[in-house]
Amino acid sequence: SKMKKLQIAIDGPASAGKSTVAKIVANKLSYIYCDTGAMYRSVTFKALQNHIDLNDESAIVKMLEDTEISFAPGNPVQKVFIDGNEITDDIRTPEVTNSVSTVAALKEVRSILTDRQRDIAGKGGIVMDGRDIGSAVLPNAEVKIFLIASVDERAERRFKENQQKGIKTSLETLKKEIEVRDHKDSTRKVSPLTKASDAIEVDTTSMGIDDVVNKILEIVENVRN
Ligand code: DC
Repeated sequence: SKMKKLQIAIDGPASAGKSTVAKIVANKLSYIYCDTGAMYRSVTFKALQNHIDLNDESAIVKMLEDTEISFAPGNPVQKVFIDGNEITDDIRTPEVTNSVSTVAALKEVRSILTDRQRDIAGKGGIVMDGRDIGSAVLPNAEVKIFLIASVDERAERRFKENQQKGIKTSLETLKKEIEVRDHKDSTRKVSPLTKASDAIEVDTTSMGIDDVVNKILEIVENVRN
């Protein structure tokens, strides 16, 4: 029916535009938006801050059990809090970005965050973005989108974002970092980045944000009818 509150999973590689469009789609549908990458980033940030070895799974799990990650609406990006402290910008630094794949490869960390994500999405009316939402976190999501874009396009998008924030990283470096992260996220043993068999792939390489949003809303409408 028209009223049913759906689960919408949006997955794809780094910098494919997931969070930007997921947030707009959620607003248009009056759904909750959840950026699961921000959860992995928050864990990474806190571990770095506490000088915990990022490969020490039991230390990170122990830390995570005592860690509250929460979200609040914000512009242009959703606000992120760890234990009540805002860390919206802190989780986007190159240091966190280049370390997060290590933390995201830890099985027990994924299991804890997956449980929390299922709680958040439980009642439906949710747009959740990440790498494994359609394939592992919400296998029964009514809508599954897999967003992709060429590495060049994604590096350019990140470059422009960084410029606005005053972060100076060359396009070439960004390209390499994206390739490294794609590789780590796709080849890890636990819940790697994969397109669920029932996900719809959308290549955003030559699409503007509005085009991608409209395309997803069209897919949502088709699922409803
Ligand atoms: O979407 P992002 O770039 O903010 O995600 C940060 C990292 O977190 C990414 O490199 C892979 C990991 N991640 C994950 O493993 N599973 C998710 N559902 C979301 C993110």
